[in-house]
Amino acid sequence: MKNWMTLLLLLAASTQTHATLENTTCKSCHPVIYAEYQNSIHSKSSIYKDVVHKAVWDKHPAKAKGNYKCAKCHTPSDHDVMNGKSKLEDNDIQRTEPISCQQCHKIQSVEKHTKANKNILITKPKTFFSADKVLKGTKVIFKEESSFFGMFKKTTGSPYHDIDYSNESYYNGDSCMGCHSHKQNGKGFVVCDLEVKQGDSKESCVSCHLPQVQGSLANQKESSTHAFHGQSIHDSTPKLLSKYIKLSLKKNSNGFEVNIKNEATHTLFPQPLRLNQLRVSIEREGKVIDLKVENFARVIGTEGKASMPWLADAIISDTSIKALETRTVNYNDVIKEGDIVVVQFGYYIVNPKSAKKLEITDKKVTEFIILTRKRFII
Ligand code: HEC
Ligand code: HEC
Ligand code: HEC
Ligand code: HEC
Ligand code: HEC
Repeated sequence: MKNWMTLLLLLAASTQTHATLENTTCKSCHPVIYAEYQNSIHSKSSIYKDVVHKAVWDKHPAKAKGNYKCAKCHTPSDHDVMNGKSKLEDNDIQRTEPISCQQCHKIQSVEKHTKANKNILITKPKTFFSADKVLKGTKVIFKEESSFFGMFKKTTGSPYHDIDYSNESYYNGDSCMGCHSHKQNGKGFVVCDLEVKQGDSKESCVSCHLPQVQGSLANQKESSTHAFHGQSIHDSTPKLLSKYIKLSLKKNSNGFEVNIKNEATHTLFPQPLRLNQLRVSIEREGKVIDLKVENFARVIGTEGKASMPWLADAIISDTSIKALETRTVNYNDVIKEGDIVVVQFGYYIVNPKSAKKLEITDKKVTEFIILTRKRFII
């Protein structure tokens, strides 16, 4: 009797997980992308996996009211979009697929609003949008054709879902902008804004953040590459994105200047908690001389002082590096032949002052991370 009960309970538990976890279905045919996704911040954006999001939520006034309004972007897979109901619950969806594969692949369009944009999802079941240069503009429905009296079978499309290659926003990255464009707080103040400027850049959100890397996109379709799905500032960001920040050095009459060329089509480190820094030192005759540290940050607050994002109603200062900008930093330090100038451009996920206020101690988010560095031999 007891064994039966246990078995029934186990069965109930296992069917429940399978019924609710959408990504498990995708895994069987897209194992490489599925594995990458496990390391991405999009699989860790709930309070149960992201210590920073949790720390801010714990202090946020909406918490006392039990209104987890962050769900729309941080846990949309567990958010009843139609009824606008959000919940905070320690379950498998919020722990492992808060922004599931489908959440991104069903975005039909993005509605623009001043508070924050809104994703409009396609309601037709099992239809996903994607990008493919060759198939652009087409819709691919599963087909199986046999030839030579059924000896050979040729399949096109996915046996599980239809694919729509005609949505431009999967080519240029506009599908990211429902969550990533901007966000206002309760006071109608913009707490963060990616400030996208396309300019003459040929790169897009997709080409920089989902570049083609080795490995097949699906089991049933042997492709040599697939779009990278492991977006994570903690792990892969530096090696993936450092090439878009170009550092150069020029001697001048007072000393020298360091130029930082930002090729990203958005402001660097736009999140209010980030602190971006340039650290320069000179290696001379076996000694290391550290020069001034330059901060780049958009500091928000109220009454002239920095504050937590929900209290802010003004920009206190903004030295953040904007889309496609080249920033020059001057040093009044004379350099001589034989010197090596070491230039490091990096960031704190949470700037040390805020980390203290938020009581965040996790080393992964409080340590200085180098995005790119260069040694100049004078
Ligand atoms: C039974 C296997 C199977 C399952 C399950 C499956 N897919 Fe696919 N999927 C495929 C195949 C095969 C292709 C390639 C089709 C082609 O290009 O002809 C594909 C293609 C895609 C593409 C477009 C790829 C491109 O060429 O740009 C996307 C996006 C996609 N799948 C998403 C998903 C998501 C999300 C899930 C889970 C909800 C999922 N798939 C589940 C087999 C599957
Ligand atoms: C409109 C969509 C949206 C809403 C609503 C939203 N966020 Fe976010 N949030 C984002 C995006 C997108 C990022 C990542 C941006 C980036 O890294 O530049 C982010 C990042 C964060 C981060 C930084 C996380 C890290 O790991 O450094 C914190 C903290 C955060 N959000 C807190 C909240 C809280 C608390 C709420 C609810 C009160 C909330 N957000 C509501 C979209 C949203
Ligand atoms: C030319 C390459 C390039 C393009 C195009 C680009 N990015 Fe970035 N992105 C970067 C680099 C480099 C960083 C690392 C610096 C940083 O974190 O701000 C970055 C960082 C980010 C971050 C993390 C910011 C943070 O600190 O939390 C988000 C979110 C982001 N990009 C979203 C986007 C979106 C959405 C688009 C399309 C509108 C886009 N990016 C287009 C290069 C690019
Ligand atoms: C943050 C949004 C986002 C999430 C989450 C996401 N995708 Fe994608 N995916 C995209 C975009 C945008 C593209 C188009 C990029 C391209 O093809 O150049 C894409 C491309 C693909 C492709 C085609 C790859 C190629 O090389 O053309 C497949 C297959 C796919 N996704 C499957 C998945 C699966 C499976 C998951 C979950 C494990 C997933 N996606 C999660 C945004 C997302
Ligand atoms: C459904 C909402 C949503 C969509 C759509 C979405 N993102 Fe995100 N993204 C988030 C949230 C929320 C975070 C921050 C999670 C956190 O730090 O807790 C984030 C974080 C990121 C980061 C920062 C990584 C890091 O480690 O801080 C990058 C880069 C990024 N997204 C790129 C993209 C790109 C490119 C697209 C479009 C292909 C996209 N995202 C689509 C919600 C979304």
